[in-house]
Amino acid sequence: MTELLKKYIREHEQEILNTWFEALRIPSVSAKAEHKPDMRRMAEWLADILDRELGFAADIIETETNPLVFGQSPEVPGAPTVLIYGHYDVQPADPVGQWRTPPFEPAVIDGKVFCRGADDDKGQSLTHVFAVKSLLETDGKLPLNIKFIFEGEEEVGSSALSAFLESEENRRTLAADVILVSDTDKPAADDPGITYGLRGVVGYELTLTGPNRDLHSGLYGGSVRNPVIALCAMLSEIIGPDGKIRIPGFYDDVVPLSALERAELARRPFDEAEALAAVGLDASFGEPEFTVVERRGARPSFDINGITGGYQGEGGKTIIPARASAKFTFRLVPNQKPETVTRALEEFLRSRLPAGIKMDLVFQHGAGGMVIPLESPFLQAAARGLESVYGKAPLFIRDGGSIPIVAQAKERLGADLILAGAGLEEDGIHSPNEHFALRDFFLGIESSAAILTELAKAKR
Ligand code: BES
Ligand code: MN
Ligand code: MN
Repeated sequence: MTELLKKYIREHEQEILNTWFEALRIPSVSAKAEHKPDMRRMAEWLADILDRELGFAADIIETETNPLVFGQSPEVPGAPTVLIYGHYDVQPADPVGQWRTPPFEPAVIDGKVFCRGADDDKGQSLTHVFAVKSLLETDGKLPLNIKFIFEGEEEVGSSALSAFLESEENRRTLAADVILVSDTDKPAADDPGITYGLRGVVGYELTLTGPNRDLHSGLYGGSVRNPVIALCAMLSEIIGPDGKIRIPGFYDDVVPLSALERAELARRPFDEAEALAAVGLDASFGEPEFTVVERRGARPSFDINGITGGYQGEGGKTIIPARASAKFTFRLVPNQKPETVTRALEEFLRSRLPAGIKMDLVFQHGAGGMVIPLESPFLQAAARGLESVYGKAPLFIRDGGSIPIVAQAKERLGADLILAGAGLEEDGIHSPNEHFALRDFFLGIESSAAILTELAKAKR
């Protein structure tokens, strides 16, 4: 990390923040149709930044859903090519009432920027844009070929980018030696990390239907099935109090954790009591024979994300609801296949469906987990870059979250992959009051510049 670069970043802090905040003010929520125009605005804003700030040839790529944004540097002959991936869509701000400041108006409080997308992933992905700008401004040129690809639907399953990767011509457009992503967490504020494993995820919506309309629970109660009760009963059979998923065959493809890997994962600094207290809990949950770090990063899990049915309004209402539904997900580890899980789940639910209730299981999205080999010279170069910024070597970690498209892109492009997170678990991504510490953000910019500088020198 050169002093000149650090100085440039320091002197342009305010300018960088202003630009970042412009992006944060666009409510690009991919899950809600009402934000469709914001998705386009956001894509246009990004293409404009790549073009105006970096002088990159930038394009908006139309898709069946939200646009992709692609930009590339002028060619640097003989140097490696890095593809920087990020997503410009964000999670819904709900529950909106729990935000201390308006969710789409960045607010700096105690050195942290509060806003939906502050970290995930506008803040993190823009660290690379500002890093490239800093390299250009201090050196006048770039040390390697840089491409950017931003998608607007990572939070809803990446269908457009996934379809884009199907065509050989598009793969030539994105071709790179290495893919660089900041959309994960580092182990701690002063501990850099490189994520070498992510869990996969498979999501469903289950709807149970009973009578053809809500019924009086006095007239009918005790004589017909209640779909909400049926839903509770069926869902509660999926997981036991020991954290084990009870669907036959669910664990068949799970690769056991080796002693070596368990030792490696145990090196991650993690204070269980502190981590629980931060989210207002005094007890953990899960498979007793695995540590919390292992349960999160390297074991499968099941969660219900939302459940509805019956009367939700003020006061009471004595009914047997006509229907009930739930959205739920399984996190998967490498080698588990979404299709296999779907088949086993469907059979499990069908066999437990009570008479008088109809079921509809809708598959929403699915992707397997991944672990990447650590031997890559690009990965090692990135580690050197991080070390030059933090003064210590990064830890190699496995994260519990999912970025389904990155494993796919790695495979389809035949590129190496570096997941260098600049955020922290405490940033509250997907929660109300999401934030990104200014210090972590600027360290992210420095890290990106350092990583790019090291990647430029690496060879496959
Ligand atoms: N950036 C996250 C994933 C993440 C966060 C991985 C922290 C590791 C550490 C990403 O935006 C995300 O939320 N992904 C979704 C994917 C799903 C909607 C298909 C997830 O994990 O729930
Ligand atoms: Mn993300
Ligand atoms: Mn996310």
